[in-house]
Amino acid sequence: MAAPRVRRLTKKRAYANQKGGVGKTTWAMFVGAAAAHHFGARVLIREMDPQGNASTALEVEPGEYSMADALTPDRKTGEVVAGGLASAIRRTGPKWPKALYIVPADVTLQSVEADGSTGTPRERRLEIASQGALDGFDLVLTDCQPSVGLLTINALTDSDDVEILCKPESWSVQGAHEAHKTIRRVQRFHNPDLRFAGVWVNQFLMAGAVPRKESRARVAELEAAPHFTGKVHEPHVVDNEAIRKAAGAHCPLWEYGAEAEEADNLFRGIAERALND
Ligand SMILES: Nc1ncnc2c1ncn2[C@@H]1O[C@H](COP(=O)(O)OP(=O)(O)OP(=O)(O)O)[C@@H](O)[C@H]1O
Ligand SMILES: [Mg+2]
Repeated sequence: MAAPRVRRLTKKRAYANQKGGVGKTTWAMFVGAAAAHHFGARVLIREMDPQGNASTALEVEPGEYSMADALTPDRKTGEVVAGGLASAIRRTGPKWPKALYIVPADVTLQSVEADGSTGTPRERRLEIASQGALDGFDLVLTDCQPSVGLLTINALTDSDDVEILCKPESWSVQGAHEAHKTIRRVQRFHNPDLRFAGVWVNQFLMAGAVPRKESRARVAELEAAPHFTGKVHEPHVVDNEAIRKAAGAHCPLWEYGAEAEEADNLFRGIAERALND
């Protein structure tokens, strides 16, 4: 393990794309786990997706409160409790690093979208609930749902920066453009300090050592868009069976054996960049 890093400030990064199945949760869990395991960081994952995939894969320890409770306004005041997220922070399961925590979500988080209470501004519920609750964390990763609804707006309103995940496929690229529009809107109306930190191309397809034509074409298309030019990260992450299998087995990459060594090194590098970016 590398020497522990010391960070004075908490870095808050969100992963977004309104298209589903592009790697948002994979990044949140494996980047978070790598930052804790390989770099000694204290990491919190805020799950803003009612699908609850991160909570399931990280085998969250049982507890009373979840993201839905933290974001639901008090009936009398119509306001969310400032710092209330602290009560919903839980440990991850025994296979995962001790320094990796999660605010879990489940299907009840859907009700937050519909709650029309007028106290706390709807877009700022996560920000208010998180006030003071993130102290002591080096890295806070927010896993967005595949939509640009209220939960995603909340995630971006309370983030320092955001990365888009994108598969080299037409609909995913379209989703990346839509996500970028949402980022612009949040910068304009809710969080002028939000930084767009780039796009990760995930599940790039190869035919042996040669990139598949479709993957190459879609990456070129992404890079040609003025808002993405110079913002598409390298390396492009190829489709890697060990990533799928380790996630399915709820297992950290470094625990998964030789098969996952390449993927573990990859996420170690991405985590290092997330901590230093
Ligand atoms: N590079 C990769 N190689 C192989 N499988 C991958 C890779 N990245 C992600 N996967 C797998 O693809 C599936 C979708 O990934 P993931 O759940 O992270 O996407 P998502 O964007 O969070 O989806 P959703 O929008 O539904 O929340 C998962 O089964 C995951 O294990
Ligand atoms: Mg997900």
